[in-house]
Amino acid sequence: MLRETIESLNIRPDGTYVDVTFGGGGHSGAVLSRLGKGGRLFAFDRDIDAYANAPEVIRQAQDGADAPVFTFVHSDFRYLSQWMDFYGVDKADGVLADLGVSFHHFDTAERGFSFRFEGPLDMRMNRNGGKTAADIVNTYAEEDFARVLYMYGELKQSRPLAKRIVRKREQSPILTTEELVEAVVGKKVAIENLNTLQKKELTLVFQALRIEVNDELGALRDMLEAALQLLAPSGRLAVLTYHSLEDRLVKNFMRSGNMEGKIEKDFYGNIRTPFHLIEKGLTASEEEVANNPRARSAKLRVAEKLGAGTGITGK
Ligand SMILES: C[S@@+](CC[C@H](N)C(=O)[O-])C[C@H]1O[C@@H](n2cnc3c(N)ncnc32)[C@H](O)[C@@H]1O
Repeated sequence: MLRETIESLNIRPDGTYVDVTFGGGGHSGAVLSRLGKGGRLFAFDRDIDAYANAPEVIRQAQDGADAPVFTFVHSDFRYLSQWMDFYGVDKADGVLADLGVSFHHFDTAERGFSFRFEGPLDMRMNRNGGKTAADIVNTYAEEDFARVLYMYGELKQSRPLAKRIVRKREQSPILTTEELVEAVVGKKVAIENLNTLQKKELTLVFQALRIEVNDELGALRDMLEAALQLLAPSGRLAVLTYHSLEDRLVKNFMRSGNMEGKIEKDFYGNIRTPFHLIEKGLTASEEEVANNPRARSAKLRVAEKLGAGTGITGK
């Protein structure tokens, strides 16, 4: 949904935009191609590997006298407002987020994001520090581990599953993706022999661990609040989500301006909201899903910030 996302931002050639998830630079490149003289793009990624893609994007954008200014910020997007303060930017015309992990993460065995490849159980987007998936699997109390599986994987069988994994780690630490697959499935199975149910359960276990390792929902909450402050009136927030937990947060926030989705009313009963909704969960076409299976779970949500004093949308 690259085209839909970029079009939804209503890009002005001299505007200021922020792509908080640079990744492979696809969205940033498309934003830059629409910017001209006076235009600025700030791109965030907390994975320094993403920076390897930056020079090509910068090179393309810096051709010509009317080139926009591109700045790459190696940081968690939860620090959006601090970085914008640092660069002296008080308003932006658009903020874009394409959440989750990149193809690079999934396809690099040594990052440990996918059960399809054998690798160390890492899953940190920023490898400069912080706990790894192996730390969680091997040190969390059984009860806490079950909570992570339930909350972030929405696994109904989280307790027996956590028990099984804890039993396995008591025999020997679980340090690789292959060892975790064995602990979840209950026996050694070659990846190509996993059945659909096993694959589904493994996908959710890996998702839960990834969310916990990277505090993905905490970072998303902080970023959404910072984006609301940063956007100029009529500025747009476009977010691509990939699972129901992050999608619920974004949906609630765009509807109400708070994470709970609690609609606030004024003294007269008028609904107060900071946004006008533009896109309420657009999904990818069949053709796009056929070309890119990850697009199957993608949802695009877009909201436009209302001006001061206009946040009343009726009763
Ligand atoms: C789905 S990819 C983005 C792909 C990108 N839109 C493109 O066109 O190539 C998500 C990227 O966001 C980064 N990311 C995820 N959470 C982040 C966070 N809290 N702060 C900064 N970067 C984050 C990941 O490291 C990953 O590179």
